[in-house]
Amino acid sequence: RTVAVVLAGGIGVRVGLGIPKQLIKIAGKAIVEHTLESLENSALIDEIIIMMNASSIHELDHLLDHDRFPKLTRILPGGQTRNDTTQLAIAALEGDDTKVLFHDAVRPFIDDRIIRDCVDALDEYDAVDTAIPSADTIVRIDDSGRITDIPNRATLRRGQTPQAFRLGTIRRAYEVARTDPGFTATDDCGVVFTYLPDVPIHVIEGTAENMKVTEPIDVHIADKLFQLQSASLSLENTKTPPDLSGKVVVVFGGSY
Ligand code: CTP
Repeated sequence: RTVAVVLAGGIGVRVGLGIPKQLIKIAGKAIVEHTLESLENSALIDEIIIMMNASSIHELDHLLDHDRFPKLTRILPGGQTRNDTTQLAIAALEGDDTKVLFHDAVRPFIDDRIIRDCVDALDEYDAVDTAIPSADTIVRIDDSGRITDIPNRATLRRGQTPQAFRLGTIRRAYEVARTDPGFTATDDCGVVFTYLPDVPIHVIEGTAENMKVTEPIDVHIADKLFQLQSASLSLENTKTPPDLSGKVVVVFGGSY
């Protein structure tokens, strides 16, 4: 059994639009609705729960057309921090062997391949992360802003979600974390990494499109990506390549 948990407990301070960013409408739907759609449409997901910012549960419940989301069983209140939200989700789920995928509500471009890779990897591993290579060089700095290290980029990845686990494993990781007075917030794989060091965490490849809407510019980027997605869908539906004869085709800024 595979459950997808949509993490939507935040408020989106950095986007700063005065509403939780997961409720911002892009391409006619709230961002969280796009995310939900991708999860609902995956044959590999059996159940979906949304952990929603408590003050917006009613609004979300109202805007969703529940008939379109039969796998969505519950909308529950999230917690103060992302880790709190995850722990509330864990408490609401049962079965040590359940496969659980935690996914940021504000990554609406999750696709079937990513979901499949996570679910399949859980047959072999108890913890799975999604990540992509970094195009930028990552530098480590100290408090004064001076570079202390330039790690080899080939060994670095940018973490995304889903982060996927056997439920018993992530539950155990948080149980140990709660006994540590120095526990500080990390992502969920970070909790397993620190508190269950013997559990290997497998990494599957994400995509650049699986971006997180974090800053105001990301709203524009996501909007553009939806436009491109619907354009390519309508091209696929025509089944014949577009007729470009007689049209000016712009290639790398030049034209012919
Ligand atoms: N999240 C959550 N519960 C929280 C905080 C965050 O479920 N208490 C979720 C967010 O809703 C989001 C995901 O975790 O889908 C990634 O977090 P982030 O991008 O940091 O979202 P916000 O906390 O909403 O953003 P900000 O830090 O700008 O306020």
